[in-house]
Amino acid sequence: MIPDSGAGSGFVVVANRLPVDLERLPDGSTRWKRSPGGLVTALEPVLRSNKGAWVGWAGVPDVDLDPITEDGLDLFPVPLSSEEVADYYEGFSNATLWPLYHDVIVRPVYDRKWWQAYVAVNRRFAEHTAKVAAEGATVWVQDYQLQLVPKMLRMLRPDLTIGFFLHIPFPPVELFMQMPWRTEIVEGLLGADLIGFHLPGGAQNFLYLARRLAGQPTSRGNVGVRSKLGVVQVGFRTVRVGAFPISIDSTQLDEYSRRRSVRERAAKIRAELGNPKNILLGVDRLDYTKGIDIRLAALEEMLAEGQINPEETVMVQLATPSRERVESYIQMRGDIERQVGRINGEYGRVGYPVVHYLHRPIPREELVSFFVAADVMLVTPLRDGMNLVAKEYVACQGGLHGALVLSEFTGAAGELRQAYLCNPHDLESVKDAVTGAINDDRDARRRRMRSMRRQVLTHDVDRWARAFLEALAQDRVAGSALLSD
Ligand code: ADP
Ligand code: F6P
Repeated sequence: MIPDSGAGSGFVVVANRLPVDLERLPDGSTRWKRSPGGLVTALEPVLRSNKGAWVGWAGVPDVDLDPITEDGLDLFPVPLSSEEVADYYEGFSNATLWPLYHDVIVRPVYDRKWWQAYVAVNRRFAEHTAKVAAEGATVWVQDYQLQLVPKMLRMLRPDLTIGFFLHIPFPPVELFMQMPWRTEIVEGLLGADLIGFHLPGGAQNFLYLARRLAGQPTSRGNVGVRSKLGVVQVGFRTVRVGAFPISIDSTQLDEYSRRRSVRERAAKIRAELGNPKNILLGVDRLDYTKGIDIRLAALEEMLAEGQINPEETVMVQLATPSRERVESYIQMRGDIERQVGRINGEYGRVGYPVVHYLHRPIPREELVSFFVAADVMLVTPLRDGMNLVAKEYVACQGGLHGALVLSEFTGAAGELRQAYLCNPHDLESVKDAVTGAINDDRDARRRRMRSMRRQVLTHDVDRWARAFLEALAQDRVAGSALLSD
């Protein structure tokens, strides 16, 4: 059943997931819990301050829920059947689009049945949103699971102002061209008034495809960061294309990390780990793009070569379960757990494993305590649209004590230039970065952290949302002048 929200909401976020998932407990009862991933981390504070509505899936199949208000947010659940979860979510979204948009680290599967489910579910999201949005509302569609929604929604509700933001990388043209339904996807996105990517490169890839696949005239100048938007002319409509690097609520996290309870817990974590000289930390969804295997391989080699003393160093890997029925995730989990077992078998002592591996979501306060406690944060993705964990760590390092090892293949590397940058495809480069992060003198580490904190604290999620929404609110026609660029 599609809800009818009466007068409707003036600001609507549409995302595959609601910010909370419905959890079924063993006794048959249910409760809501925070849903995983960076999209929710970023958008929740934005929606709270804009008093909008959120349209999305509640994370469990085969339930048709009424709209709810949860913790002050108006949530409009979109139902998915078990088959749609398998075909649209696990299939087309996470076994086709996700690997294709992340440099084909895993081979994408192109399945016509999955595509049909993707079209059908995108249509359902568009129909729900059309019912929820007030006359002339602003609708902000999120991420790769919903790329057809902008066009479908525009056909249902031409009065709306529609923005779209992609939270993952937009691939190079050579890779995107593999997609059998490439033109449909580009045309789906072109239903929006403004299409946002994290980086100028993604925006430029898209402009090229809009010319080549959709045959629309576009601007040709370089796209800037939060500036110099590109333009696609679609008939009488002007679609803008821009780069808006996402961020976190850095001030809130900074304040939170300074709380006495968090500091005390951080000290206790250190003690529980045996008061090692160095705590290395990884925090990720358990995803093959995150390079968890790479940081473990670097650690293993450094232990073997005597560059790291297992009596002085521990690594903590906190991994949230993710997409657990998708084949590539099942395989990766087994590989990582074997790696952890091998390292501990080889270098651990009774009561003192070298790698502490937790496969579960960690409550926010506990997570922040880990960020405070860690001497070195390991962020080593093979490809990541942004990576909010890197920014979260920096926001929690008010004491300027820690060091960030960061893959060049994350969006965050464009802003956090003072991190210990590494190429995750080159194990020596990862090892060098870890060595630098552990061994550099205190002043050098403090200088780097201070500079990164300046960046993260001044470029927070509010600035990201404002930049996007202000650009979206601008007169659509003004963009056409830029076509001559
Ligand atoms: P992605 O969106 O691909 O999951 P990001 O790094 O951008 O990656 O965002 C991940 C978000 O999920 C961050 O806010 C991070 O703190 C949170 N997170 C990651 N791992 C865990 C974990 N084990 N427990 C709790 N939260 C986690
Ligand atoms: O931004 C990456 C992202 O895929 C979000 O779209 C998503 O909500 C989050 O990571 C978590 O993934 P999932 O919803 O598949 O658990």
